[in-house]
Amino acid sequence: IEGVFATGPLSGRHILVTSGPTHEAIDPVRYIANRSSGAQGTAIAAALRDLGARVTFVTGPAEVPPPPGVDVVRVISAAQMAAAVDDAFPADAAVMAAAVADWRVENASGSKMKKDGTGAAPQIAFAENRDILATISRAANRPALVVGFAAETDDVVANATAKRQRKGCDWIVANDVSPGTGIMGGTENAVTLITETGAEPWPRLSKAETARRLADRIAAHLTETMA
Ligand code: CTP
Ligand code: CA
Repeated sequence: IEGVFATGPLSGRHILVTSGPTHEAIDPVRYIANRSSGAQGTAIAAALRDLGARVTFVTGPAEVPPPPGVDVVRVISAAQMAAAVDDAFPADAAVMAAAVADWRVENASGSKMKKDGTGAAPQIAFAENRDILATISRAANRPALVVGFAAETDDVVANATAKRQRKGCDWIVANDVSPGTGIMGGTENAVTLITETGAEPWPRLSKAETARRLADRIAAHLTETMA
């Protein structure tokens, strides 16, 4: 079995990674989604695997296929992702790279919605999804290191720093997903790592290189803080 004989600074560690978008059903044939490709989360899972970790990879319906050598759990909706994350515990670290839908369709229809012939449009009602990152950050069996992401279009560092406080996670990887940056759906990323000691801007790098840097930091942190 892959992983059992893994060597590297993360051998013997179990790390949970979430990735991709979620889809929220409107009816059996329609859904609400977002533009996450799953590329950054997939690269992070591969980088952690390369350092010897056993990786549970909980992924929404992403464009990018899951990496080999990780335990893949496929989900569709945010509610399914929350349940899969709960099932994956315990873990030494969690990296929550998924673009989880903030809202589900509260009045989703069990059968295909039909035009009624009057020209009237259906009214979609939304309900807020549970915040998976905030929930695991405050759980009794919390991983020693919880890393969140913050997708922002404005005031990236200020918003992400506030998000770190609000959610109770240890680190936040903040990225600017403004349309002009080409990051959402692209092959590069320009992130700022926010930790307890402040904000560290990283250069614009391939998503693979960003992932390797993050995996190295996680390995160093776990080695320093855990036997
Ligand atoms: N996240 C989550 N569960 C949710 C929403 C978000 O676990 N229901 C996680 C994401 O995986 C990410 C982090 O929270 O690691 C931040 O996601 P983001 O969308 O940037 O933040 P939100 O708290 O949803 O705030 P907003 O979208 O309003 O800026
Ligand atoms: Ca959100």
